[in-house]
Amino acid sequence: MFNKMKKIRKTSFVAINLSKTILYSLEYKLLYQISNLFSFMVRPPKAETDKDLIEHLQKNVIRIHNEDAQNILDGYYSAKVLIPKSPTNHILKLPKLIIDSLRISRRRKLNLKKDFDSSLENIPEYFNRNFHFQTDGYFSAESASLYEHQVEVLFSGTAAPMRRMLIKFLKDKMSCENFSERPLRILELGAGVGTASIDFCKSFNVEKYVISDPSGPYLEMAKKRINTPAVEFVKAYGEDLPFNEGEFDLVFAVYLFHELPRSVRENVLSESRRVLRTGGLFAFCDSLQNNDDIKLNEVLNNFPIDYHEPFFKDYTIWETSLALQGAGFQNIESHYRLLSKYWLGKK
Ligand SMILES: C[S@@+](CC[C@H](N)C(=O)[O-])C[C@H]1O[C@@H](n2cnc3c(N)ncnc32)[C@H](O)[C@@H]1O
Repeated sequence: MFNKMKKIRKTSFVAINLSKTILYSLEYKLLYQISNLFSFMVRPPKAETDKDLIEHLQKNVIRIHNEDAQNILDGYYSAKVLIPKSPTNHILKLPKLIIDSLRISRRRKLNLKKDFDSSLENIPEYFNRNFHFQTDGYFSAESASLYEHQVEVLFSGTAAPMRRMLIKFLKDKMSCENFSERPLRILELGAGVGTASIDFCKSFNVEKYVISDPSGPYLEMAKKRINTPAVEFVKAYGEDLPFNEGEFDLVFAVYLFHELPRSVRENVLSESRRVLRTGGLFAFCDSLQNNDDIKLNEVLNNFPIDYHEPFFKDYTIWETSLALQGAGFQNIESHYRLLSKYWLGKK
């Protein structure tokens, strides 16, 4: 009886995730077709036609949804992570997404990498661009309001389960390293609009949770979404952290490193280690790297061209384990799922 109930719960969790994948895949097709209609003035991303590759991706999507459901059953995080944010907001965003996808495709066609006025802010050159060809880069409230939805459209509704898989790896690592049971002081780098933060701050026993990002509008959006007393919001670059040595038990980032030049990545590693206490954990979730899954190398090759990611290619060949060791981390481990890879190390 108990096992049957467990099976029913797991099936329903997988069904919720799969319905999101279907919805976002349909939205991807819709945006693609609309861009195609205007192909005389815009360029949609390359359409995937390789049947084996599509089948391989589909199998891995189902696998991650199953593992996400199992993680909930195993108590790594709550079933509440599956609750859709707001169906009304979702639908109301569609017209904006359609218009924005045409603007993005236009930038793609013209290869416009810096198509906004950011003259008022003092922004490092590597950051001052239209990543993904997205409107206003990371520098407007409009961009912040569309970002999460656009990412899920791109990843067919798998971005959220890929992000929160890091919770499982972290909790396993914590029990393996006999991590202290007391409430944690956590720092999240490059948190964007707080998408991972929402699931992470509910999944750990938290004394203090700092959500940081250098983008003012993205941080403002995160503030609107997260109202938990232990959470603080700090505008900061990962390579120049305004915190004291040893202030945190855990420092982590999601989808940050592939957007940084190699030297900045290395500085983020050493700054992260500086603000960690001895024995503290550092972790990140980012893109799959070259040859992790040979069948997906082609996807990794096309992505930075279609979505303006100038540092992505170098990220995919970055010897991350050596970089983590070079920064002084120990007990390093990595895992990958679908299109994401997870790195963990200890100070
Ligand atoms: C691809 S987004 C990921 C956002 C979020 N973590 C997520 O999972 O959706 C990259 C984020 O990194 C931030 N970022 C860019 N350069 C950074 C830096 N040097 N240090 C910290 N964050 C940075 C951007 O503002 C953006 O919010």
